Amino acid sequence: MSDNGPIGVFDSGVGGLSVLREIRARLPHESLLYVADSGHVPYGEKSPEFIRERCRAIAGFLLEQGAKALVLACNTATAAGVADLREQYPQLPLIGMEPAVKPAARATRSGVVGVLATTGTLKSAKFAALLDRFASDVRVITQPCPGLVERIEAGELATAGTRALLESLVQPLIAQGCDTLILGCTHYPFVKPLLREMLPPEVALVDTGAAVARHVETLLAASGQLSDCKATVRFWSSGDPRRLACVLPVLWGENGTVSYCSV
Ligand code: SIN
Repeated sequence: MSDNGPIGVFDSGVGGLSVLREIRARLPHESLLYVADSGHVPYGEKSPEFIRERCRAIAGFLLEQGAKALVLACNTATAAGVADLREQYPQLPLIGMEPAVKPAARATRSGVVGVLATTGTLKSAKFAALLDRFASDVRVITQPCPGLVERIEAGELATAGTRALLESLVQPLIAQGCDTLILGCTHYPFVKPLLREMLPPEVALVDTGAAVARHVETLLAASGQLSDCKATVRFWSSGDPRRLACVLPVLWGENGTVSYCSV
C-alpha cells in the first residue's frame, strides 16, 4: 500500500525548515507542504489560546491542500496546540516536537542538563510532565531565549549580535556544570555552528529533528501511507513570501517558490 499525498509541516516561521530537512533526508519520496506563520512569528511569548487558534487555522489549510499527515515543527506550537489538534483529527497521523529531555538525561555525565527554549515551551504543562517523567535524577537548568528566534528569522546566524546573545544565554549554564544542552526550539539548530565554536567540546548539543523524521516514517509505514513517487515541495508564508524565499537557499539548501497564504 502507498499514499502519494503530501506531508504538511508548519512552524511559526523558518525554524521548522530544520525539521523539514531531516524529513526530506529520511523520506526523499515524500512530497512536502510547508507553512511559515511569518505573519505571527515569534510564538514564544504569545498566549497558548492564540497559538492554539493559529494551529487550528494552519492545520485546516494544510488539510485543504491534501496533507495526509501533519508535523508541528515548532516546540511552542506543540506545547500549546497538539492535544487540541489530536482531539479534532483523531485519525490523522500527527507528529509534534518536544525538548529532548529523555536522551539528554541519559547522556549527561555531569548530571547537569541545560534547556534552551521559548518561554511558552518552558512554562507549559507538557514540559513539566516531561521533566517529571524523565529528569528526576538530574539537575535541569532552563534558559528562555528572548530575541533569538527574531535574529534567526532575520538570517543573522553568525553575526556579532547573535554571538553576544548566545554567549549571554549559555555561559551561565556552562558555569553551573552543564555538559548536555537541549535545543528546545526548531529555530536553534541553525545556530549550532556558532554554539559549537563557543562551547567546550565536551558539551553535547541535543535536538530532535532526526528523531521526528524517524517517527514520521514509522507512523506512515504503520498506516501503509509511505509514498513511492517523485517528491515535490511547496512553501507558503502568512507574512511576506519574499522574505522566506530569500532565506531558503541557506536554511533549506535550495531555492523554492513561496506563495502567500492568508490563513
Ligand atoms: C517561536 O516562534 O518563538 C519559536 C518556535 C519554537 O518553539 O520552535
